[in-house]
Amino acid sequence: MASVSDVSQSEHLEEVTEERFRLALGNFATGVTIITSTDDGESVGMAANSFTSVSLDPPLVSFCAALTSTTYPRISASGRFCVNVLSEFQEEIARRFAQRQIDRFAGVRTSESPLGSPILEGVVAWIDCKIEAEHRAGDHLIVVGHVRALHVEFQRLPLLYFRGQFAIEQPIAREIDTWTTG
Ligand SMILES: Cc1cc2nc3c(=O)[nH]c(=O)nc-3n(C[C@H](O)[C@H](O)[C@H](O)COP(=O)(O)O)c2cc1C
Repeated sequence: MASVSDVSQSEHLEEVTEERFRLALGNFATGVTIITSTDDGESVGMAANSFTSVSLDPPLVSFCAALTSTTYPRISASGRFCVNVLSEFQEEIARRFAQRQIDRFAGVRTSESPLGSPILEGVVAWIDCKIEAEHRAGDHLIVVGHVRALHVEFQRLPLLYFRGQFAIEQPIAREIDTWTTG
């Protein structure tokens, strides 16, 4: 049986390079969200898969914003954000909200959340938040939101993100099949 020291020695064989770090973390499957707000009446939004729940009482959620993001400072200035959980048919929206120098909202239908942020049509759920805190963590900010309103469309299914690719149930099953059969 392997001793504790054997286990930690074998872990040390796996060097934490940036490439290996990205590769390993890509194995944690997530949903995909668009974090939206308004700035001077203009809709702003960015794709984020770092969204997670934090606390039930009070209801808190969080996501991480890169310090290099040009959109997050505009969201921060508004003091609020709306988390739009993308559905399986919204891969194109996910890609678009990660691109710079384009009008991300062009042709996208929206309505207004109770706190005044854009809700994208066709999402699985939306979660409307006031910014509670921002914590610097390495090259990102951990943004904590206090949830003030939310809505779920139970008949819709989510878009997934796994190993750097957008996925729904079928492509993942195919990929696993290819792996196991070599
Ligand atoms: C699937 C996916 C997930 C992403 N998740 C995050 C994230 O959690 N945090 C983040 O800062 N950027 C994330 N990005 C990148 C941003 O969406 C995008 O690069 C960034 O908004 C750059 O534009 P900006 O300068 O307008 O912020 C993600 C992109 C994609 C495609």
